[in-house]
Order: sequence, then C-alpha cells, then structure tokens
Amino acid sequence: MTKVNSKLIIAIDGYSSCGKSTVAKDLAKLLNIIFIDSGAMYRCVTLYALQNGIIHEGIIDEDLLIESLDEINITFKFDVQSKSNQTYLNGKLVESEIRGPEVSDNVSQISTIGFVRKKMVELQQAMGQTDSIVMDGRDIGTVVFPQADLKLFMTASPMIRGQRRFKEYQEKNQDITFDEVMENVKKRDYMDENRDESPLRKDDDALVLDNSDMTKQEQLDFIVDQLKVRNLIK
Ligand code: DC
Repeated sequence: MTKVNSKLIIAIDGYSSCGKSTVAKDLAKLLNIIFIDSGAMYRCVTLYALQNGIIHEGIIDEDLLIESLDEINITFKFDVQSKSNQTYLNGKLVESEIRGPEVSDNVSQISTIGFVRKKMVELQQAMGQTDSIVMDGRDIGTVVFPQADLKLFMTASPMIRGQRRFKEYQEKNQDITFDEVMENVKKRDYMDENRDESPLRKDDDALVLDNSDMTKQEQLDFIVDQLKVRNLIK
C-alpha cells in the first residue's frame, strides 16, 4: 500500500477542464489523504450570488456580496458510495448545480474579486493546517500553499479540454453546443490568466504536466513517481 511519509501538501494548478480534479481525486484515494476542489468553493459563491439576486444580468453587486460573504457556508462531505467529496452550500448538496452552465458562465468574474479570494484562501489554508491534503485550483502553489511539498501545473490543448467538458455536459443531458463550450473554455482561460488578483501562472518550482495525450493512469503514475523521487511517499 502507498503511504505518505509525513504531513503532505500537494498543489495542483492549471487551466479549466484539464482534469485537475480527476487526478487529484485519484491521488487522494491512493494516498488516503483529503482532496479539496478549490474551484468548487468559487462555484458555491457564484451559485449563492445567482440565487440571491447578487448577480443580475451578468452584473455583480459587490456591496451586497461583501455583506453576504459570512452567510456563505461551504463544506465538503465524503460520500462513501461515490468515494469522493461532495460540496454543500449552507447545508444543501450542490455538487451537480455548481457544475451547470449558469454557474460556469459567471464564476470567472466572481473569482476576480479580491475580497472573495481573500476569504477563500483563508478557508483553504485552514483546511491544510492539520491533515495531508491535495488541493486543485489556479493559485494553490503560488498563493495558498507556496510551501507545498509538490506543485504541479497541469495543461492540455484547448480543443481537448473543450471536448472533455462537452462530453461531461452530454452525459448530464445539459443543453449546450460544442461551440458554446469552446467559447466558455477560451473565455475562462483568458480571465484566469489576465485577472489582477492571483492570475493563473506556473510557479517557478512547479512541474508541468501536459495530459493532452495521457491516460488517467499515466498521469497518476507520473505524479506518484515524482512523489517517490522526492521521498514523500513509500
Ligand atoms: O476549476 P474550476 O473550473 O471548477 O474553477 C472554477 C472557476 O474558479 C474558474 O473560473 C477559476 C476559478 N478558480 C480560481 O480563481 N482559483 C482557484 N483556486 C480555483 C478556481
């Protein structure tokens, strides 16, 4: 059995829809450590804002959002059946709702807001205080855990990422065209890379993992090898 040698923090950053959460989940299962999808947290804030009239016709009422921030309670619960974490917003299971097109269309804008990021980063850092953790996102290696034991920067070509996301929507019977998905992927890449607050960038000590032509198992093996080389697991 694979075991971690001591408290371990693994940071996985990269573009949207390049399989960060998939590999992070696999890794957490293999190492028996906690997985946190930090994107789910920004998605929860976005869902809350949509449900409470804080985003209206694409415009965010930032005054109302800052007032409401303490009312947004985000938790993760491990689901034994699916063997993965499920996201709860104020006690309600929202795992599927936060992945829908309406949240996806608005989440980049929410994630550019400084006070939202500050709050999410505080919550994320608290989650890594006591336990070994693998967290995926955009700023995990650069801002949340700059001292992480292993930092990965994941990428795949925009076309491949669009195809993966489109397949996910089709499996959930969501009404969206491939062109719309591609537009969303490109728009989010642009916003992730060009925002003022913690833009997506590869940290100097992050390893690049381009999984355009890799299977799930190959990318997991790559990370496990890197952890072994660093004597972080056995
Ligand atoms: O990983 P994802 O697609 O679920 O992320 C949703 C959005 O949240 C995406 O537009 C980028 C943003 N995000 C972020 O700014 N910082 C993070 N640590 C995670 C996600």
